Amino acid sequence: MPDNPTPRRFAPRGPLRGTITVPGDKSISHRALIFGALAVGKSRIAGLLEGEDVLATAAAMRQMGAKIERDGETWVVEGVGVGSLLEPETALDMGNSGTSTRLLMGLIAGHAISATFIGDASLSARPMGRVIEPLGQMGASFTASRAGEPQDTLPLTMRGANPAVPITYRLPVASAQVKSAILLAALNTAGTTTVIEPVPTRDHSERMLKGFGAAIETETVAEERHIRIHGPGDLAPQDIVVPGDPSSAAFFAVAASIVPESDVTIRNVGLNPTRNGIFQVLEAMGADIAYEDRREVGGEPVADLRVRHAELHGVEVDPALAPSMIDEFPVLFVAAALAKGTTTTSGLHELRVKESDRLATMARALTAAGAQVEEREDGLVIEGTGGTPLRGTANEGVATALDHRIAMSMAIAGIASRDGVEVDDTGPIATSFPGFADLLEGLTQ
Ligand code: S3P
Repeated sequence: MPDNPTPRRFAPRGPLRGTITVPGDKSISHRALIFGALAVGKSRIAGLLEGEDVLATAAAMRQMGAKIERDGETWVVEGVGVGSLLEPETALDMGNSGTSTRLLMGLIAGHAISATFIGDASLSARPMGRVIEPLGQMGASFTASRAGEPQDTLPLTMRGANPAVPITYRLPVASAQVKSAILLAALNTAGTTTVIEPVPTRDHSERMLKGFGAAIETETVAEERHIRIHGPGDLAPQDIVVPGDPSSAAFFAVAASIVPESDVTIRNVGLNPTRNGIFQVLEAMGADIAYEDRREVGGEPVADLRVRHAELHGVEVDPALAPSMIDEFPVLFVAAALAKGTTTTSGLHELRVKESDRLATMARALTAAGAQVEEREDGLVIEGTGGTPLRGTANEGVATALDHRIAMSMAIAGIASRDGVEVDDTGPIATSFPGFADLLEGLTQ
């Protein structure tokens, strides 16, 4: 728990009605700043998510020489060029952000500079071995910042390599962060680096690197994705429009589905096929989702989503869908708790190493709110109420463990409960979704 938590009670609310726009995509926002900071010249970014995680990436890129400023509604990034990053004079504070940490470790791995990474209690417990391993193969070295501390968690100090060594690396865990770290290191590495993905993960890095002019290609070989990047490569500045974050939209899609008589339109939602698993699963559960005005924004498929209340039923979620909805399981568990019958999830070991152990945290929080939940090693099994509101938690705060998505998921559980849900700390919501509680309130007036 932080020193000054911000608890908040989410009381039962009537139907959600209206039209909202969710903030920009977090993954795309990080990448837009990083690639912009590597291109020589000015990139302009519209729709950037101004959440703490993305601002941590911006601050780190400034520490390494980029100029990043807000100009009205647009962010302007003046990059230093691939290979020209400056060594940061002070530690890079990554706050709560695993994406900032892992992507920037990749970036630094291809430059002959040193950097120390620090973060909050949640981030400092998360495994970094998954990037240390391939980046070590490329020539980077990592040491615990203080003697006797673990070698694979923050705080860590690293030294990049120039020249770094190109590698071929098959991802042992499905992780877009690890993939992107290697691609970033490869940008300043002579030769061809190949990342092999047995299971596809979000492909924003590949799409955007292509847009910035990197020599990158993707090929499917024996059902595996081979991503090849030829370095070193210069990036050309771009104008980028960031679509709305489907991970943020998911909270409102679930809320509208489970609160009777709701009818909500969420504008400008990114629907990249590597990200849209949550909407597929909600539809399989009986959700009423209409995709209006399908279009492309910034090279990504986008639509306005109209979601109306529907009677949901339990499903068995195909573990193969997990990478395309990896951040949406907490809120899916809330939908499952209100659905009719049993929802079974499996293959979700990765949820145990997110901002919190999301299987344990959600099992505890939903149980405290009156749901029937069985926690298994790799998933939750939830027996839904069939639409009857959850009991709620009265005044005892559910533990969110510095995890923004747990806080938002339990807020949605609260509005669909009888007594309301007290969330112990809403502070972390600002990492990915500033304005969440106001948007929710605005829909129930
Ligand atoms: C992200 C990838 C995912 C996701 C995270 C953002 C990214 O992590 O959970 O919130 O922007 O690449 P993994 O790739 O580690 O699964």
